[in-house]
Parts: sequence; C-alpha cells; structure tokens
Amino acid sequence: MAISLRNLSVDYSLSQGTAHALRGVSLDIQKGELLGLVGESGSGKSTVAFALMGLLANNAKVTSGTATIDGKSFDLTKRNATAALRGRGMAMIFQDPMLSLNPVFTIGTQLCEVLRRRAPNGDRKTRVAMAEDALDKVKLSNPRRRMNQYPHELSGGMRQRVVIAMALLSEPALLIADEPTTALDVTVEAQIMREIISLRDRIGCAVLLITHSLGLVTEYCDKLSVLYAGERLESGTVREVQRQPGHPYTRMLFDCEVPIDRERHADASENRFTVISGDLPDPRRRPPGCIFNGRCDVSFDECATINPDDYPVGNDAGHSARCLRLRAS
Ligand SMILES: Nc1ncnc2c1ncn2[C@@H]1O[C@H](COP(=O)(O)OP(=O)(O)OP(=O)(O)O)[C@@H](O)[C@H]1O
Ligand SMILES: [Mg+2]
Repeated sequence: MAISLRNLSVDYSLSQGTAHALRGVSLDIQKGELLGLVGESGSGKSTVAFALMGLLANNAKVTSGTATIDGKSFDLTKRNATAALRGRGMAMIFQDPMLSLNPVFTIGTQLCEVLRRRAPNGDRKTRVAMAEDALDKVKLSNPRRRMNQYPHELSGGMRQRVVIAMALLSEPALLIADEPTTALDVTVEAQIMREIISLRDRIGCAVLLITHSLGLVTEYCDKLSVLYAGERLESGTVREVQRQPGHPYTRMLFDCEVPIDRERHADASENRFTVISGDLPDPRRRPPGCIFNGRCDVSFDECATINPDDYPVGNDAGHSARCLRLRAS
C-alpha cells in the first residue's frame, strides 16, 4: 500500500458556527494506482488534498485522521504530521499552475531547486541536465530555451507541464492532482492527463486525481471514490462501480454525466453536477440518517433516521457503498 488515509474529519470554524467539511473519510491507493476522487463543488475534495499536504486554511481543524505512507503512520490531528508526511514524498498539482510556480524565477532555476533540495551536494551541471531532461519527458518543446524563460512567458498548458516536470524530479510516493485540467481546453486536457499517467509509469507513484468529471475518471483511473457533503458514499474499481453502482447518488452521477467534450469553465462553481436536483445539506447541521436522504429517489422511512454503514457491493472485494438498501436482509 503506498498510501492509506483513515477516518479523516475536518471542521472549518465560521462566525456562524462550525462547518463539518469532512466526516470519517478513508482512501487507499496502491503504488502505481490512480484513484479518482469525485464529488460536486463543496463536497470536500480539496479539503482532503489540503489536509494531506498541510495546506489547510487557518480556520480549519483536523478532528480525526491517520495517514499511512509506505508503512509509516501519521496522526493528522497533530500540527507537525504533514511536514513529516511531505518528507516521505508528496507532490501536488493544482488547477492553477501558478500556485506551484514562482513568477520571479526562471523555469530552470525552479526545477534545479527541486533537485537541490533532494540532493544538496549534487553539482549544478548535472541538475541542469536533469531539469532539461524532465522538460523533454513532459513533452515541452525546446527544453533548453524553456529553462531560461519565466512562467508568464508560457501558456497555461505549458505551465502545467512544468509543474508535472517538477513532480517528476521530486519522485513523490503520492502525487495529488486537484482539478489539474479544469482551466484548460479539452485537447490540452488529454495531453496533460497523458503526462500524469506517464509520470506515474516512470516513478510508480500513487496518484490521487481530484475532479468533477466522471469522464476523466472512467478514462484514466483504476479506482474511484465518491464524496458527497464531506462523506465517502462509494468506493471501488472504476469498472465495478460503473457496472454496478451501489449508491443511488453514484448511479445518478453516471446517469447525468455530460459528455467529456462539453464546454469547460475555469470557475469551478460553474462545473457543478447541476443535473441532480436539490442542494448539498448545510455543513453546519448534519441531518440524522443518510446524508443523501433529501435528494435520493429511492429512499424509504428508515433512511431519515439510520446513518448507513459501508456495505459491500457485489462480489468485488474493494467495492462498497453506504446505502441501507445494501443491508443484508
Ligand atoms: N477556509 C474555509 N472556511 C470555511 N469553509 C470552507 C473553507 N474552505 C472550504 N470551506 C467549505 O468546506 C466545504 C468543502 O470545500 P472544498 O473546497 O474542500 O470542496 P471541493 O469539493 O474541493 O469543491 P470544488 O469542487 O468547488 O473545488 C465547502 O462547504 C466549503 O465552502
Ligand atoms: Mg476543490
């Protein structure tokens, strides 16, 4: 197991109370595996990524959660846990590549810095050669020239390639990509996804792909976890979940998935799964019973009072969903 996240709960304190952004979320990603984490806007996807990377906002509090990476466990409620976790090798690709790049340094300087941090005693010439090679591997044209350019001289897609090259050089055990292609057009999206896959193939890392797009998940991911209002409702291999969704929410997502070549919006809020009627529940007050009860088309009386366990779906070992209809009768 490359990474295992157990029982992650995160609260945000607000002037009007506490928002429970995540409740008991668990994920497992093997080495070389791509896990897609899907959910509508506000379901808590980025909060999972930020909790792992130690990038949560100041008003956030991790109330429970353990991350195990390459056999070592870290208590995420402890402030220093994520620094130690990052030391074990994690890298992140954001929707906006400029969050990973420094506008005042050349691409070459920034790539060489990644290598210098990993091996402070190495020589500069070797680092420059390795950086150029990384740019070549992510198929950025004319790597030598790019080394002397600044981020603003490149397009969005080219900048995202630079960020992938940085991740390649840092050789993480876990790569987290949070909507890495949402701001890009569809042809560039496919190229960037291919570079992420090729990075995974080269260094054998685990990848957590956070996305609104089930299309991306079914095309590129091995496994899928569905997040809804801060809770994981279903998990399994993409093939099994697609073949036999265990949760009504997952089924609805597959039913209403818009084609992959639909128009994209850079603003994530425009990308909501608006086809399912109703809104996410108020994160300050979790209703008793099933979190999806208000929007479910097959709910029955007990769904309003019993919070479902995670039940196995079908015969596939890793496939489970939190729906009372899966209770053994
Ligand atoms: N700093 C914060 N303070 C208060 N609430 C926050 C903060 N950051 C996020 N939230 C809330 O936590 C919930 C989860 O947010 P998060 O950004 O993790 O969702 P997301 O699934 O990544 O959404 P999107 O798809 O729009 O990126 C949302 O209700 C959001 O409004
Ligand atoms: Mg997000």
